[in-house]
Amino acid sequence: MTERETWASRVGFILAAVGSAVGLGNIWQFPFQTGQNGGAAFIVVYLLAVLLIGFPAMLVEFVVGRRAERNPIDAFERLGHGDWKVVGIIGTATAFWILAFYSVVGGWVIRYIAGSATGAYFGRAEAYFNAVAAGPEAVVLHAAFMAVTVGIVALGVAGGIERATKFMVPSIVVLLLGLGVWAGTLEGAAAGYDYYLSPDVDALVSNIGTILPAAVGQAFFTLSLGMGAMVTYASYLGEDDSLPADGATIVVLNTLVGLLAGFVVFPILFALGVEPGSGGLGAAFITLAGAFAQLPAGRVLGVVFFVVLLLAALSSAISLLEVVTSYLVDNTRFSRPKLAVGLGTGIFLLGLPSAFGLSTLGWYNSVAYNLLLPLSVLLLLLFVGWVDTYDAVDELRRGTDIGSTFGLAWLWVVRTVVPLAVLVTLLLGIQTLAVNAGLLASPIV
Ligand code: PHE
Repeated sequence: MTERETWASRVGFILAAVGSAVGLGNIWQFPFQTGQNGGAAFIVVYLLAVLLIGFPAMLVEFVVGRRAERNPIDAFERLGHGDWKVVGIIGTATAFWILAFYSVVGGWVIRYIAGSATGAYFGRAEAYFNAVAAGPEAVVLHAAFMAVTVGIVALGVAGGIERATKFMVPSIVVLLLGLGVWAGTLEGAAAGYDYYLSPDVDALVSNIGTILPAAVGQAFFTLSLGMGAMVTYASYLGEDDSLPADGATIVVLNTLVGLLAGFVVFPILFALGVEPGSGGLGAAFITLAGAFAQLPAGRVLGVVFFVVLLLAALSSAISLLEVVTSYLVDNTRFSRPKLAVGLGTGIFLLGLPSAFGLSTLGWYNSVAYNLLLPLSVLLLLLFVGWVDTYDAVDELRRGTDIGSTFGLAWLWVVRTVVPLAVLVTLLLGIQTLAVNAGLLASPIV
């Protein structure tokens, strides 16, 4: 058997994981989720969800991955619990599923870089979106996005993923900072900041039933949890890294990028008097593109913004493809490039229906959000919290000098409050799916 690949450096691992976490979820979805859920109030709940649920859950994935040094499916056998393999299968299937439509959206982003450069959507933001979001063009760009993703993964863990994300993540931060500074100079920026930064506590309390699952779902998605991505990335770690320190760095950086995206998006929207959060999946593209069209230097800004979005989307997509690829690299004799191409083709085909209709894409997204992600996170929490308990705490402390108190506190939340919160999220998510499918006339809670 050939030796298993590893990251070339600890920084490389951290940047790759940040690259996975920072994606369409932060820059496209987060500001709009915030808009739809009442502004700053949502952010408060979201930050709590990231800290109290997301961070411990990320450490759960790290612990499993680093100790097993295997892909998320075989990891359970390695840890002596082969009967829990199904958890890894669900996570890996989720990665496959999400990448299928994520890549379609990635294709839109490519289209919008070109559209900004030529001003193609200026004055017709909505018509443009409807023309490019579904149909043959969307299919071609879906294929293009997938091809780049395959290309990077084919080059390997250190040679492809690590090298690409080392360049991508700093570029995202620098460009986004530049956009944020520029957005601050717009007239109306103050109103945007106000909306973004002052929570309306009454609205928070009365809407907690919808805000909570949205915030928890957003926390999982943005931290790349529930699809084996962090298990896989941690499986390529060397011995001596501190998982809590790495996890904290990744969580903080990811959150900062999301917040920074808000500092770009809200001033722009308020400068133009657009109500944040109106509309569905296409809203971000339509409103933002509409905004660029009206701003001085809109073409340049549009190009920069969508380039940031593309880098973010790519560095996330590669982590999804890596989950599935690592399983086959560990289990077959085919070369990594061959496997990446084969899997990329399969994922492309699965995504095709969502490239032909926006409502199909919305359905793919909602199955992932409402069912697959919370289910997969919940099962892994139960595994580490109740089945693999003692080894997990040892593993968390390996390579660090943190005391046993941190480990035990972590284990305690992983056994109790975190799975409970995820269970509630899952049940609410299933309810949403049932309502959307017409199986339930109206929500029970
Ligand atoms: N975290 C990514 C985002 O916010 C999405 C993603 C999820 C990527 C899961 C990889 C794995 O866009």
